[in-house]
Amino acid sequence: MKVIEVRNLHFRYPRSRTPALSGVSLSVDRGEMIGILGPSGSGKSTFLLTLNGIIPHSIRGEFSGEVVLRNPLTGEEFKTSKTPVSKLSTIVGLVFQNPESQLFNMTVEDEVAFALENMGLPRDEIEERVEWALGVVGLSNKRDEFPPNLSGGEKQRLAIASVLAMKPPVIAMDEPTSQLDPMGKRDVERVILKLRREGITVVIVEHDSRFLFKNADRLIVFDGGRILLQGTPREVGARVDELVDLGIKVPMSLLLSHRLGLSPVFSPEDFPSRVSL
Ligand SMILES: Nc1ncnc2c1ncn2[C@@H]1O[C@H](COP(=O)(O)OP(=O)(O)OP(=O)(O)O)[C@@H](O)[C@H]1O
Ligand SMILES: [Mg+2]
Repeated sequence: MKVIEVRNLHFRYPRSRTPALSGVSLSVDRGEMIGILGPSGSGKSTFLLTLNGIIPHSIRGEFSGEVVLRNPLTGEEFKTSKTPVSKLSTIVGLVFQNPESQLFNMTVEDEVAFALENMGLPRDEIEERVEWALGVVGLSNKRDEFPPNLSGGEKQRLAIASVLAMKPPVIAMDEPTSQLDPMGKRDVERVILKLRREGITVVIVEHDSRFLFKNADRLIVFDGGRILLQGTPREVGARVDELVDLGIKVPMSLLLSHRLGLSPVFSPEDFPSRVSL
């Protein structure tokens, strides 16, 4: 079942000459993990903002085409341009690049409970969800902490828990690990894999493609507001030269196997690479 359908989407920010998105069409199946890659300014963040209606409701501009979300549990369809963000965000939860912008409560527990209280859920349901979400992200032992005292990776996991607790069928993340140290990054990546095992559809934007090449079901490459390439990691990996030309970090093993004329190989020992051989 398709949970997201994007049809011929165009968007131009006010006072901007060039469109940020041009003719983007894409659908996402329930349970898929989608990786979005592309150079800076290619429209990745803008695209995510169209998924829960922040564009066009809160950020206005020239918008055409359509984005339709489908609740996989009820089959109900929502056209984002005609549905309030409060409703859309129960289907697509967004996690931003900078977790600080999403954290403003006194304790970890309150942070996760906050949106649930606003949804008017009963107390015991809130407690159950808070416990579950903190468990998934591995922060159960930090529930009484003051969020600003957490490490970068913990803050990001807390931001994920706050979104997860609302039980959206889709979670979209904008560069969730780009500001983290290697340990924080690894912990967040583990959480992302866990979300997928929970049956959640995950859409992730990252500059560094190594995690996505290894784990995503499908990769979408944006360039200049358009989809340049899409396919399985293997299919997209076959176009590694184009990715390198765009400045996208690719797994070293992929680069090597391509240069040696072998079929794409993704090894767990991949190390950072922008190296040309
Ligand atoms: N609020 C805004 N107002 C005007 N133009 C904007 C705004 N936000 C983004 N843009 C422009 O829209 C285009 C796409 O930007 P976007 O932030 O979606 O790219 P991105 O792929 O997420 O880049 P990055 O990898 O640097 O995060 C760029 O040309 C950018 O300058
Ligand atoms: Mg961005």
